[in-house]
Amino acid sequence: MRVPKLQIGNIIADIPIVQGAMGVKVSLSSLASAVANEGAIGTIASVGLGDIKASKFAFEQTCREALEAEIRKTKSLTRGHLAVNVMCALSNADDLIRTAVREGIKIIVSGAGLPLKLPAIVEDDSVNLLPIVSSGRATGLILRTWDKRYKRTADGVILEGPLAGGHLGFSMEQLEHPEDYSLEKLLPEVLEAVKPFEDRYVKKIPVIAAGGIYDGRDIARMLSLGASGVQMATRFVCTTECDVSLPFKQSYVDAAEEDIVIIRSPVGMPARAIRNRFLKDLELKGKLKVTCPYRCLMACKMEEANYCIARALVNSYLGNVDEGIIFCGQNAYRSQEIVTVKELIAELLRELEAAL
Ligand SMILES: Cc1cc2nc3c(=O)[nH]c(=O)nc-3n(C[C@H](O)[C@H](O)[C@H](O)COP(=O)(O)O)c2cc1C
Repeated sequence: MRVPKLQIGNIIADIPIVQGAMGVKVSLSSLASAVANEGAIGTIASVGLGDIKASKFAFEQTCREALEAEIRKTKSLTRGHLAVNVMCALSNADDLIRTAVREGIKIIVSGAGLPLKLPAIVEDDSVNLLPIVSSGRATGLILRTWDKRYKRTADGVILEGPLAGGHLGFSMEQLEHPEDYSLEKLLPEVLEAVKPFEDRYVKKIPVIAAGGIYDGRDIARMLSLGASGVQMATRFVCTTECDVSLPFKQSYVDAAEEDIVIIRSPVGMPARAIRNRFLKDLELKGKLKVTCPYRCLMACKMEEANYCIARALVNSYLGNVDEGIIFCGQNAYRSQEIVTVKELIAELLRELEAAL
């Protein structure tokens, strides 16, 4: 069997891999363009782009201008397929989505909450809208709402399971039993949930599986279960082109399986990260000093937050990993070395072809 292409609306990627967004400057122009140049889909993460000091005064404007600049830079490096990811939990989500569309981005991915009003923000139906979901139930809810309110359906769905990195769409209790929510269990229910909308809109709604996909065999398994492609993030951190600092990448290479933990994020969702000095300090002290000039998250209450996630993620991005949070997927500890995107994709394809 040949490696299938991934079709999202009228976009056809030669390789059925979407590089997952990694917020606060981990997946920017360098990584996204390198992935797109290999025939997969590169994603720019829109969260945390504004300069942390400058954005104190004009948060929305600084973030908008930074996203514009990043999209333009990425487009100057590739003619391949690009997506922009916008987390619904952001206070400036609508503005970032409109900015990406204005800059000509044709794939908008949105999660970290239910993107129920996404079609109201993006009226242009040449822009493909992909919600991120973690159950058949959430898929049905989003698609029913879009159908009823906007007479529109999704152009693809990203199913993110419990082994993913960053913020997770599962409760702390659910994450104690990730095997109950494996992609193998969730994929059939999401495929079932999209079916009536594929029939009604007479189009394929590709389901893209994410969370713990590490090698070509994992990709083959998801395709054999009915996924049209996979989204992978953790695997792209240890690449030369990944935009984050070297100490961040090295933390993945150095991590042992037991260092990968679930934490509570001020976003209001659990998240997965490497247990480093910052997290140990937080465990000891319970609360670190929080000052917040710009309110980037809707759910974040400064008085109750025990740390500022934006600052912690910026520290890690800059290489000050001891004072920051290092988000990662469950398989981060398997990274052994830093390779180029070209080498990584070639390896994944070799494994995928052998497994098909
Ligand atoms: C460092 C890091 C940052 C992430 N940031 C975001 C983000 O900003 N928005 C988002 O929707 N998902 C984010 N994710 C989730 C990924 O896009 C992806 O769906 C998930 O991690 C896939 O699982 P994998 O890492 O095991 O491949 C992040 C993941 C990591 C590892």
